[in-house]
This record gives sequence, C-alpha cells and structure tokens, in this order.
Amino acid sequence: MLDHFDLIASIYDRLIGPPNTERLRQLLKLPTDGWLLDGGGGTGRVSSHLNGLIGHIVVSDLSHRMLKKARHKKVRPVRAHVEHLPFADDFFDRVLVVDALHHFCDQREAIEDLLRVLKPGGRLVIEEPDFNHKGVKLLALAEKMLLMRSHFYTPQKIRTMVASCGYSAKIENDGRYTAWVVAEK
Ligand SMILES: C[S@@+](CC[C@H](N)C(=O)[O-])C[C@H]1O[C@@H](n2cnc3c(N)ncnc32)[C@H](O)[C@@H]1O
Repeated sequence: MLDHFDLIASIYDRLIGPPNTERLRQLLKLPTDGWLLDGGGGTGRVSSHLNGLIGHIVVSDLSHRMLKKARHKKVRPVRAHVEHLPFADDFFDRVLVVDALHHFCDQREAIEDLLRVLKPGGRLVIEEPDFNHKGVKLLALAEKMLLMRSHFYTPQKIRTMVASCGYSAKIENDGRYTAWVVAEK
C-alpha cells in the first residue's frame, strides 16, 4: 500500500529544500572514515550532501518510492523498519535521523535499535522540529488532520528516551524551529 511519502516522493526534495549541511557536519564530527546510517533517510536529500565527508552512506527507509530517488545519489538504499534494522551491532560510525523520528512507529524502540547498530565511540544525531515551539505544535495538528499518525516529542523527551537506552545526550537548537539531540555511544 502506498503511504504519504510514496505519494510525494517525486517532488520531496524540491518541496523541502536543501539541508543545513554545515550544522550536521559539525554535530556529526565529520569528516571521518567509515559508515554513516541515515535512518528514515527517504530520498537521501540530507545524507547525500555528506558524500566525501565519510566513507559510505546507507539510507534506510520504509518507502519504496522515496528510496528509489536515493538510488541516483551515491548512497546505498536499504528498505527496513528503523525499529528493526537489518545491520550488525556496533557497525556504523555515525547515525543520523533528520525530520523522521516523529514519523516512526515506535520512537523509543527506534532509538534503541539506532544505538544498537552504532559503534562504541560513534555519534547519533537526531534532528527534529522543536515541539516546544508553537509553530511546531501547529504543524503537528496539521499532520494529524492529514492522518499522518506522527508523534512529536520535545528534545528533552527525546533525550530521556536516549537516556533510557543507557546513553547521555545533549540538546542544541537554532533558536527557531529545529532542535538536535546528540549522543555519543
Ligand atoms: C519527513 S521524511 C524525512 C526524510 C529525510 N530524513 C529527509 O529529511 O529528507 C520521513 C521519512 O521517514 C520514513 N519512515 C517513517 N516511518 C518509518 C519507519 N518505521 N522505518 C523507517 N522509515 C520510516 C518515511 O518513509 C519518510 O521517508
């Protein structure tokens, strides 16, 4: 069955625009060697901009059509539930999630599996709309009306989920709509 993201995959990159690559580069501590996982990475809109800053990039997502777009971007697309990733423990040097956590089926379970596949010493960076912000609460309402089943959490709550998996995390924000939760394993 097609989902919301299958339906908008062909225009997704144009609709959302380019990412804040410089901020992500700093938070992920790039460049480095090794493997990066972009969980819920969709079309590779974000992580394809990190090409050249890390050895290999895997984009994992549920939507066939979003992943089809990623194929042309020098990333490796893998169809998987982020809550049950088909990767070995401690495999990735960096794990990134941008604007996707609130779409996952089970956020706590997803964070646990993302941390499982992250190497000791590696970094997890989760970028989300900051649910403390009124504008983001309106966005959450709009997504509910579109029957998108999103679950937005404040960065503080996301940090608590990371902590419940045994790791501490710090929060950064841009003073506007975006927050990043960053954990080191
Ligand atoms: C708003 S898009 C963000 C895509 C990409 N991170 C970006 O910023 O361009 C959210 C993505 O999460 C994916 N997604 C939702 N639930 C998922 C799950 N349980 N496992 C893997 N991917 C999922 C959707 O298919 C969609 O591509």
